[in-house]
Amino acid sequence: MRNLLDTASLTRADAIRILDVAEDMADTQQREIKKLPTLRGKTVVNLFFEDSTRTRISFEAAAKRLSADVINFSAKGSSVSKGESLQDTAQTLQAMGADAVVIRHGASGAPRTLASSGWITAGVVNAGDGTHEHPTQALLDAFTIRKRRFGGDSRGRGLDGLRVTIVGDVLHSRVARSNVWLLTTLGASVTLVSPPTLVPQDVSGWPVTIRYDLDEAIAHEPDALMVLRIQLERMSAAYFPTEREYSRRWGLDAERLAALAPGSMVMHPGPMNRGLEISADAADSPRSTVLEQVANGVSVRMAVLYLLLAGERTGDDHRETKDD
Ligand code: CP
Repeated sequence: MRNLLDTASLTRADAIRILDVAEDMADTQQREIKKLPTLRGKTVVNLFFEDSTRTRISFEAAAKRLSADVINFSAKGSSVSKGESLQDTAQTLQAMGADAVVIRHGASGAPRTLASSGWITAGVVNAGDGTHEHPTQALLDAFTIRKRRFGGDSRGRGLDGLRVTIVGDVLHSRVARSNVWLLTTLGASVTLVSPPTLVPQDVSGWPVTIRYDLDEAIAHEPDALMVLRIQLERMSAAYFPTEREYSRRWGLDAERLAALAPGSMVMHPGPMNRGLEISADAADSPRSTVLEQVANGVSVRMAVLYLLLAGERTGDDHRETKDD
């Protein structure tokens, strides 16, 4: 793997390989092997132009557990505020010896630009770009669903026949986009539930069922209900019902939690707006996988860094692999 830019271009085999390597990484953590020597001598740069808690810290933990050196860059407080470009920022970090660049950026497509520009030779991992994709979030979500559903017997498996419902602010959600492509590639069927104003215009080309009524979607007994964060920072008032209205119609509250089928899991990528899209009862219930998702994120990111920096190099772009 040369870069990880999206899930839309991951093949089923690519995705299962990443999840299986993540299983191996999780096993080493469970056996309390704190550090693997695999990436000794490699340098991973976390290049974050947008805020993050989970993604940045778990990439840092993942790199360190593989014995890589880590450089953390945050746009806040950097020379970006003096107008330094993405090219100059990236090349500066490359000059300090970066072997992989993990980038989060507010502009959709920034990781692809970095990977295809020739500015740097380091592998590029998309840690969330605008409203486009967040591939490692989707991989850790798929890993969490697979592990909860199949336990220790999950290696080599997809998510065939499972039903996943994603509810919330689909319009602004890179998590939703990455999950739609990845979960369907792995064989799951995906339903999106959203206020009509928060459904993207290009959704007709997506392999999903669209619903507007959360209670109706819950009655179809999804195996996993994934609640999205309302992205108030990206929201135009024209798109959003009042918070009270949103919560009443599309929020996961105690009543809806009780209506979920037995065994159905409650997921959220974080950070959560408690009391808006998800109630405390739901977020903290035994059905909730929120903290499992965070823990699994480290294993999945270890797998991605391993495959990028120590695995076979199979070409520049997964999209070409699938389209071929
Ligand atoms: N889920 C997620 O991307 O969280 P952070 O923004 O905290 O990284």
